[in-house]
Amino acid sequence: MKLKNIIINPNWHFWEFWWRYVPELLVPIMDEIKDAFFKLKKDKNFIKDLKELHKNYIWRPSPLVYAKNLTEKLGWAQIHLKNEWVNHTWAHKINHSVWQALVAKYLWKKRIIAETWAWQHWLATAAICAKLGLECIIYMWKKDYDRQRPNVIYMELAWAKVIPVYEWNQTLRDAVNAALKDLVNNSENTYYLLWTACWPNPYPSMNVYFQKIIWEEVRKQLQPSHLAPLLQGEEKELLPDYMVACVGWWSNALWFFYDFLDEESVKLIWVEAWWKWIKSWLHAARFVNKKIWFVEWYKSYFIQDNDWQIKDTYSISAWLDYSWVSPQMAYLENIKRVEMTFATDDETLNAVKTLMQTEWILPALESAHAVAHTIKLAPKLKKEQIIVCNLSGRWDKDLFITAPKFDEKFIDFLNEYIKKYN
Ligand SMILES: Cc1ncc(COP(=O)(O)O)c(C=O)c1O
Repeated sequence: MKLKNIIINPNWHFWEFWWRYVPELLVPIMDEIKDAFFKLKKDKNFIKDLKELHKNYIWRPSPLVYAKNLTEKLGWAQIHLKNEWVNHTWAHKINHSVWQALVAKYLWKKRIIAETWAWQHWLATAAICAKLGLECIIYMWKKDYDRQRPNVIYMELAWAKVIPVYEWNQTLRDAVNAALKDLVNNSENTYYLLWTACWPNPYPSMNVYFQKIIWEEVRKQLQPSHLAPLLQGEEKELLPDYMVACVGWWSNALWFFYDFLDEESVKLIWVEAWWKWIKSWLHAARFVNKKIWFVEWYKSYFIQDNDWQIKDTYSISAWLDYSWVSPQMAYLENIKRVEMTFATDDETLNAVKTLMQTEWILPALESAHAVAHTIKLAPKLKKEQIIVCNLSGRWDKDLFITAPKFDEKFIDFLNEYIKKYN
């Protein structure tokens, strides 16, 4: 069976991963979404509406940029960057938010709820709800609500209702619980818009299917007609030699890899976040001492302690700082179709600087992990080889984390600003 068909799979489980362990209360809700998905993916009107939003709302296609200066600086393989940060709302997250909001609309669900973790997902959810006239409710764990004030403003300006979750321990898990309580009580008119593939089917299959626009674009953009000035008479179909993406849960990596899963010559590299010493080694690399277990109703790799409990993780980039990963990525790693590696904080910050200085492109800290690996990889390859690296998002959201590391006057500037305007 082709890998592509395994990754988009109507079954509730396959092999070791991808099981569905949901409470009974959620079974009919998940079934309804699954049935809608398999019907809508063949519905001409739905596809037409989706294409329209891709073109005129997300502004697809996003460019595949030949990083000429970076290639020449490193001196070896050609580096191409799939630039998802030019999308509306500045990252790949808008892709799945748009189609899920459309699924909700087709199901006559006028109320969208989401819990928060991934910054660009909240923004994208609030944005598409404003565009389609859907009510938007965002559950935010208290710590994020306090530290992400600028993002709350963005969402509230787009009519979203942002609800801080004070219950229990005020963590992400509590925000998920609050959103689920809402879903179960209001399932008639409410759709839970999920930010990645961390849940069981149908979400993982749906997310991949509706992202096929990204891999279709990369295929086309890699063809001789598109790359003409680089190729000197080359006519055959070009395949990348390496594709590199960071992995938080999976979304940007898997959407990007998908069309190449069955092309054996294409090496797929998954870059995670590696380490810091805080009393013990902290990192967010799920493949180190990997253990398989169940969290959030599915089976995958998790970073665990010796007592099989979820362990804290660490990464300079907020959205790689996570202890579990999608069941699809776990499967692909298990059969060794993806190669996993990591980048440290220093390598990541250096990648931000290098890409700025060569191309004036500012990658999000997550995406900079993939750039860091690309910088390490390129000098080991031949000149005619091609690396395609995914730039999943833009850097602005990381300003307050990164600026003090690049500019020693930044904190003074903030203090002065507060004194002046307080
Ligand atoms: C720009 C960017 N890249 C990567 C990620 C990591 O998530 P995923 O692996 O699901 O794409 C996020 C998550 O919010 C993100 O905002």
